[in-house]
Parts: sequence; C-alpha cells; structure tokens
Amino acid sequence: LEKKDLDGKRVLITAGPTREYLDPVRFISNRSSGKMGFALAEEAYKRGAKVTLVSGPVNIQTYADIEIVNVETAYEMYEEVKSIKDKYDILIFSAAVADFKPKNFRESKIKKEQEQELQIELQKNPDILKYAGETKKDWQIVVGFSAETENLIENSKKKLYEKNADLIVANNVLQEGAGFNVDTNIVTLISKEKVLELPKLSKEEVAGRIFDFIVDYLCRR
Ligand code: PMT
Repeated sequence: LEKKDLDGKRVLITAGPTREYLDPVRFISNRSSGKMGFALAEEAYKRGAKVTLVSGPVNIQTYADIEIVNVETAYEMYEEVKSIKDKYDILIFSAAVADFKPKNFRESKIKKEQEQELQIELQKNPDILKYAGETKKDWQIVVGFSAETENLIENSKKKLYEKNADLIVANNVLQEGAGFNVDTNIVTLISKEKVLELPKLSKEEVAGRIFDFIVDYLCRR
C-alpha cells in the first residue's frame, strides 16, 4: 500500500556535487553522486508531493514528473534556490556544496609553461542551507544534511542551531556503506526534540525514514 501522506505538499531538494572552476576546463569538486538527493525526490513524489530537484552534475535518470533544474556551481545553486524557495513547504539540502571556490577565475586555460609553482586562493561560497534557514517562512520545514568525519552528533547539533534547520540528517562519511557515492547510508536524524539513530539502509529506505520523521514529528507542530 502506498502512503500518500505528502499529497499537496511542494518539496524542494538540492542534490549532487558542485563544480568550482579554476579556468574554462578545470574545476574543484567532490565525490557526491546525487543518489541520496534523487532517492529523496522519488520518495516524495511517490508519496504525493510536487517535487523540484536542483542538482549539480550527476548521471541519474528519474521520473519525468520530477522537475529538474541543472546547475554547476554553488553560486548557481544558491541563486536558483533563492529565487524559487518560497513556493515550497519542505526544503531538503542534500547537495555536497563546495564551501570554497577559486578566488580568481582564469579566462583562458592555465599553461604549465608559465609557472613552476601554482597557488590557488580560495574564497567562501554562500551557504544555501543557512540562507534558507534564516529566511524560513512559518509554513516551511528546512532539512539539512551533515557530512562529518569526527564528533558527528555534536557537530551536527551545532549545524541544526546555527543554520536554523528543523532537522539535520547526520552521516559519518568515513563509515563503510555510508555517505558519498554508495547505494546505502548510515544516518542519525537530529531535531531539537529528538535524536533517532538508524541502521545501515539503502538510500531509498533512508529517504523513506526521513519523510516518516518529517510527517510524524515536524508537520504536526
Ligand atoms: O550524493 P551521494 O553520493 O548519494 O552522497 C550523499 C551525501 C554524502 C552527499 C549526502 O548524504 C550528504 O551528506 N550531503 C551533505 C554534504 C555536505 O556538504 O555536508 P556539510 O556538512 O558540508 O554541509 C551541511 C549542510 O549545509 C548540507 O545540508 C549542505 O547541503 C549545506 N550547505 C553546505 C555548504 C554550502 N555552501 N551550502 C549549503 O547549503
């Protein structure tokens, strides 16, 4: 029996990596495949929601009824989310957004003949989750992820408060079968009132548990 408990809800999800360009052909990025974000989008869609995915470059196909907005850089993702976010009830930030980008973009390809050593200066990208948390409307639920390699619960609780989120999905990305570019994840769901540790599950099952938590504990406030 399919649950339709997100009927009429509008859900916005960020997914995948971002690319931060050094020159026209080179970029800094990370290992995110987009699997976690796409699993969330499909789960929300199956439960009756109208879903938009703002995704970095990934190789995944999904249902035609899920609206996809393709972006490359953190700044493009930020601009897109900023312009559409107030149309949504539930916002989930599963993208692995680059925290920094090269300070100077070189308009032409960097040539190895010109330098013996190369220094790349980086500058901070906008924090999309933090922006959404700070500008949250009363009807909105904001969910962030937290990718940590140490002090998982403590650091994730900090993000919950600092970014004004309603829920943080914390994954220790050093654990086998968790995090980047695998089909499973091991997460702990952290809200202001509740901490729920889940076992290793497929990313589809994790997506199901996240929406169960949202429906059971956050939608009925
Ligand atoms: O894509 P997969 O291969 O399936 O891998 C899934 C995943 C490991 C990418 C996913 O489970 C995950 O942990 N996503 C968040 C990765 C991350 O950037 O975590 P963070 O702790 O650095 O960031 C905290 C939160 O702020 C995240 O919700 C992130 O989307 C958001 N953020 C971070 C920086 C930034 N500039 N803008 C943001 O919105």
